[in-house]
Amino acid sequence: MTTHLITNIGELVTNDPEREGLLGVVHNAAVLIDDGRIAWVGSSSTAPDADSKTDASGSAVLPGFVDSHTHLVFGGDRAEEFVARMAGRSYAAGGIRTTVAATRGATDEELRTRLSEFVGELSRQGTTTFEIKSGYGLDVESESRLVRLAAEVTDEVTFLGAHVVPPEFAGRPDEYVDLVIGPMLDACAPHSRWIDVFCETGAFSIEQSRRVLEAGASRGMGLRVHASQLGEGDGVRLAVELGAASVDHCTYLIDDDVRALADSDTVCTLLPGVEFSTKQPYPDARRLLDAGVTVALASDCNPGSSFTSSMAFCIAMAVREMGMTPAEAVWAATAGGAAALRRTDVGRVVVGGRADLLELRAPSYVHLAYRPGVPLVERVWRAGIRVN
Ligand code: NIG
Ligand code: FE
Repeated sequence: MTTHLITNIGELVTNDPEREGLLGVVHNAAVLIDDGRIAWVGSSSTAPDADSKTDASGSAVLPGFVDSHTHLVFGGDRAEEFVARMAGRSYAAGGIRTTVAATRGATDEELRTRLSEFVGELSRQGTTTFEIKSGYGLDVESESRLVRLAAEVTDEVTFLGAHVVPPEFAGRPDEYVDLVIGPMLDACAPHSRWIDVFCETGAFSIEQSRRVLEAGASRGMGLRVHASQLGEGDGVRLAVELGAASVDHCTYLIDDDVRALADSDTVCTLLPGVEFSTKQPYPDARRLLDAGVTVALASDCNPGSSFTSSMAFCIAMAVREMGMTPAEAVWAATAGGAAALRRTDVGRVVVGGRADLLELRAPSYVHLAYRPGVPLVERVWRAGIRVN
């Protein structure tokens, strides 16, 4: 077994609740990696010896980003829709059907090649854990293809057959829900850890969403919900009532939603790439944090509402537009994402955790927001192995 020491770290973000401050920052730090796990964390001057070393030259090191919400398996893109939105057209969930047509028409090899390019893109930007949802297939064969492809690259696969009602079920949404919770769930559950539903006007009603989530729960799947992206609704309270791990978007919240979240274990995942790309108002993270809600940040990387895979960009937007401090935004993109996936082995730099680390070409995590758009990620380790 070989050990590796990252030494001379100017500012180490640990997210260790045993250490001081939200981020548990250690200055002049070192981290020892042994067999893919963190074996020791402390001051550089008292670090143990190791088989090999990386000198971080005084720069900042953080836990790898945890992107708890993406839709990375799809065909085509929707650049024209983006151009039209920037010129004033509003976002409509119906655009999802454009990507469904392109995805159904793509071969496995085309989807796999695209997906592996995205996985490289994520690694280079410091994302070491990511979730992937299906939802651009919307028939039994296509959805099961998407969850199988996603499972080739991540353990965090989410079945989102209830993304929108596909054209062949137009006007018959309840019949489509029967398919989702019947044969489609049978085909997808073996490859998926999670089930998700888009609970919103134009997608699925509260009753339909409940049927989908309860069917997944009865198979032992964890629950996730897309809610209150385009307007107020009951989706957040449904997610809390059913014990969902995360409810995502949450741009339009009433006070009851905020209270319900604060009293629950459900993480509120904010996706600022969506507001950037749809020109909707950004969600009010300050209101949620002040109420005691656990907030995560994720990219929602998808070809329609948010075609970014950059967690650094999400952090910058959250600080600039959503009332988060740089420390809160970094926590939300690492430990917050881990909480949204109910993971304790990632999102923190603690002994026994998976050795997922990113080194910035900058002296502090603050630079992620302070220098938006600048590729600051210098080196990345996943389970102790250099991936960038
Ligand atoms: O997370 N909210 C639902 N689904 C995606 C949108 C996907 C699309 O427009 O293609 C989202 O924003
Ligand atoms: Fe999404």
